[in-house]
Amino acid sequence: MADDPSPSFADRYGPWGLVLGASHGIGNAFAHELAARGVSVVMAARPDDGLDAAADAVRAAHGVEVRTVEVDLIADDMIGRLAPATADLDIGLLACVAGGVDSVGRFLDHPAERAERLVRLNCLAPIRACHHYGSHLRARGRGGIVLISSLAGVFGTDGTVAYSAAKSFDLVLAQGLWAELRPHGVDVIGLVLGNVRTPTLLASGLRHDPDTFPGMEPDEVARVGLDRLGEAPMWVVGDDNRMIYETLRTLPAVDGIDAMSAGVRAQYGWD
Ligand SMILES: NC(=O)c1ccc[n+]([C@@H]2O[C@H](COP(=O)([O-])OP(=O)(O)OC[C@H]3O[C@@H](n4cnc5c(N)ncnc54)[C@H](OP(=O)(O)O)[C@@H]3O)[C@@H](O)[C@H]2O)c1
Repeated sequence: MADDPSPSFADRYGPWGLVLGASHGIGNAFAHELAARGVSVVMAARPDDGLDAAADAVRAAHGVEVRTVEVDLIADDMIGRLAPATADLDIGLLACVAGGVDSVGRFLDHPAERAERLVRLNCLAPIRACHHYGSHLRARGRGGIVLISSLAGVFGTDGTVAYSAAKSFDLVLAQGLWAELRPHGVDVIGLVLGNVRTPTLLASGLRHDPDTFPGMEPDEVARVGLDRLGEAPMWVVGDDNRMIYETLRTLPAVDGIDAMSAGVRAQYGWD
């Protein structure tokens, strides 16, 4: 986390940031990183998931104002809950982070509703939030939006069919918004992540011992992501992940799909 808050960051992206999916994992790290940079934070997550304790921790660590909003992001009325709860705040940064829940498992081995929930969380919720808060950012002529993609979104993959499709959507959504909002002083970035050691990933049925499973730490992702905001429409976080991303993009589709699918099978111990 940044110990030396940059006033220019808070001027540009404050006074308030809104993090969707902030009670644990990468979203929680974004809440801390924003607060460390002097931005007050709205932390949104589902009810009864430790949100209040997570908010107390951000307040105690950084001394900024923190507000919580309990909202199920896959619900049709998610903006109907978020908008009134933030109407009195000048939101300068939106980070749409929640997305990894139930991302692994073969498409036809689960009800279609499971895949639909992934699309709601990763696609519909960011669309709705970007439309609502993006209008405010465009009108005030400055601010930022962070969307989260994944190496899993580079190719369609056996075992993460809907998740990979949704993560591909997130990256392209970020790129389009970057192009549309750049002339209005609003920075948008799509972050491409590899494995990050979050509660969601570590509980996802990995074949490996979660204690030693390799991956980036959430706070590094948040720090790099916010450092890169305003510099580029997308960023692959982590040197190793950037190499993997560049290699994947040189492959013919069949080879890329096979490589990604073999990786998921190995990670989860499937045949
Ligand atoms: N971890 C990785 O290895 C990895 C790799 C690549 C990309 N990513 C992406 O990074 C993002 C964050 O991943 P993560 O691993 O930190 O876990 P995550 O499960 O996507 O996010 C956790 C946060 O989102 C909240 N959340 C989940 N579903 C919600 C819902 N329906 N409504 C409101 N809040 C909800 C969680 O609260 P609850 O307690 O309610 O669940 C928690 O605060 C995701 O978009 C994921 O796709 C992760």
